[in-house]
Amino acid sequence: RPAPAVVTVTGAAGSIGYASVFRIAAGAMLGHDQPIALRLLELPQAVPAAVGTAMELDDGAFGLLKSVDVFDDPRKAFDGASFALLIGARPRSKGMERADLLAANSDIFAAQGAVLNDVAADDIRVIVVGNPANTNAAVAAAHAPEVPSQRFTALTRLDHNRAIAQLSHRAGVEVGEISRVTIWGNHSATQYPDIFHARVGGRSGADLAADRDWLVDDFIPTVARRGTAIIEARGTSSAASAANATIDHVHDWVLGTPADDWTSTALPSPGVYGVPEGIVCSFPVRSVDGQWEIVEGLEINDFSRERIDASVAELAAERDAALTS
Ligand code: NAI
Repeated sequence: RPAPAVVTVTGAAGSIGYASVFRIAAGAMLGHDQPIALRLLELPQAVPAAVGTAMELDDGAFGLLKSVDVFDDPRKAFDGASFALLIGARPRSKGMERADLLAANSDIFAAQGAVLNDVAADDIRVIVVGNPANTNAAVAAAHAPEVPSQRFTALTRLDHNRAIAQLSHRAGVEVGEISRVTIWGNHSATQYPDIFHARVGGRSGADLAADRDWLVDDFIPTVARRGTAIIEARGTSSAASAANATIDHVHDWVLGTPADDWTSTALPSPGVYGVPEGIVCSFPVRSVDGQWEIVEGLEINDFSRERIDASVAELAAERDAALTS
């Protein structure tokens, strides 16, 4: 068996962290032949809870899990890490302005980016889940000049999976028969789930999109506002589905996307599809030899262009606010 992969999970005692680590230990993320060394990073006040999670991981007696360590020091937690799942973030507290939220998270992700630059393994791959995820990833990448910026990604796979689920219900086809869905832009209400290139069973996504009333008034807002709907239903935010998407993201990054399909990942734009360079934007991507490649050459119609541009404008404003704060 290969040497254990060092996987560092931040916010490990939180809801998404807790829903992630057991499946990681069971092999769902890196495959059933890859041993794992887990590092749990938490704020000092949540270290006891993370220690409790480590005890439960122990009690799972997972054959692949070679070690579990709990830290409150990022420098130790990221030392030699090949995977950094940056889930912990500063939540919006009552009365907090958006600018204050961006500034608080900018501080956290600037510091973590700098530490990753210094101590992580050469093959480090970063996925930011903590919100505002795209902008946090942009900030971390900006503070890690020695790490190729394409290794800093943000999670839009949950939105991608939500779009597939909604399409499956609409068209009455199995999720496995749906491919080539794309989430463009920000992991926020401005995100644009694009089905014009999708294949939905025997039908094309463009065929389904011809029903513009459904597309505009139902599909797009249902996907974009699903997080709010989950909070209203559960009284707490999506955790298991977010953990599942995080695991899907890393799984496909390392082990490849299915042939003839693609997925969605937010990563720094190389300046394609009219998205300014460096903006961490969600794109259609394939994973080839362990690296994301943006699917290029898709025709973008006016309907899509307008929505992509709106989300990218939001991202540019967020990034400027975060980097100057
Ligand atoms: P949670 O509040 O249950 O857990 C967050 C944990 O992070 C807490 O235990 C906290 O102590 C820890 N934490 C905070 N700052 C930290 C730091 N600097 N270093 C290490 N740990 C730190 O929150 P939950 O539900 O697990 O969500 C985590 C984040 O994921 C939130 O920002 C949420 O908005 C975001 N999210 C993103 C989604 C996406 O699709 N990109 C989907 C759902 C949630």
